[in-house]
Amino acid sequence: MRTSLVVGNWKMNGSRAANRALLESMRKEMEAGVVAEVAVCPPFVYLADMESLLQGSVINWGAQNLSHHEMGAYTGEIAPSMLADLGCRFVIIGHSERRTLYGETDSLVAEKAIAAQKVDIIPIICVGETLQEREQNITEQVVERQLNAVLQLAGVNALKKAVIAYEPIWAIGTGRTATPEQAQEVHAFIRGHVAVQNSGIAEELLVLYGGSVKGSNAAQLLAMPDIDGGLIGGASLNAKEFLTICQAAV
Ligand code: G3P
Repeated sequence: MRTSLVVGNWKMNGSRAANRALLESMRKEMEAGVVAEVAVCPPFVYLADMESLLQGSVINWGAQNLSHHEMGAYTGEIAPSMLADLGCRFVIIGHSERRTLYGETDSLVAEKAIAAQKVDIIPIICVGETLQEREQNITEQVVERQLNAVLQLAGVNALKKAVIAYEPIWAIGTGRTATPEQAQEVHAFIRGHVAVQNSGIAEELLVLYGGSVKGSNAAQLLAMPDIDGGLIGGASLNAKEFLTICQAAV
């Protein structure tokens, strides 16, 4: 039986004061009526605050990216071991904003996933299509290509300690959410594609949906059989909204 997971991707937002206020209001409510595992992913510079802000709370934390190098002369980069040092349980990898704005390739995403697992951090590997690719009916081909880069480099066993996040790019930050049926169709495809190599791993694999999830639409999306939780952007910066989403993940 798969658990549920809800992760807040704060993106490039926050301040020490705002983070404290958000997390203090979140953690009070989080214990009551939330069965899902919950995590927040702040910008790198605030990770060191998470241990003290979330101590004794059920809320985990993670990062939004990492270097695939272990250490060394990579100015401006963050090593996987540094994230482990700061207690990160997860790291978001291959977010569409990193693929489109910073040129991250499928193979780099696969290397980053492996680098995270080497320090026992769970990679949340993002896949998803553009609006044009959806309109061209090649969503499954795009998602398969992105998944295969990880499967070919890391092998299907790597997915035992990984999470997949399906984030249709046309739904991210747009308020245009995929319908539950649209999301379920791609989630089922992802699970089926992994099952070809290993049905046991496919059955246990958590596949999250991301793209304009709000308190108002979370229950319908998270009720779908192959949607195991959410990767939440804007709504994760509002304690009440994020809590509503977490409560809907059963
Ligand atoms: O990683 C989650 C993010 O891409 C979704 O953003 O604001 O549409 O929930 P948003």
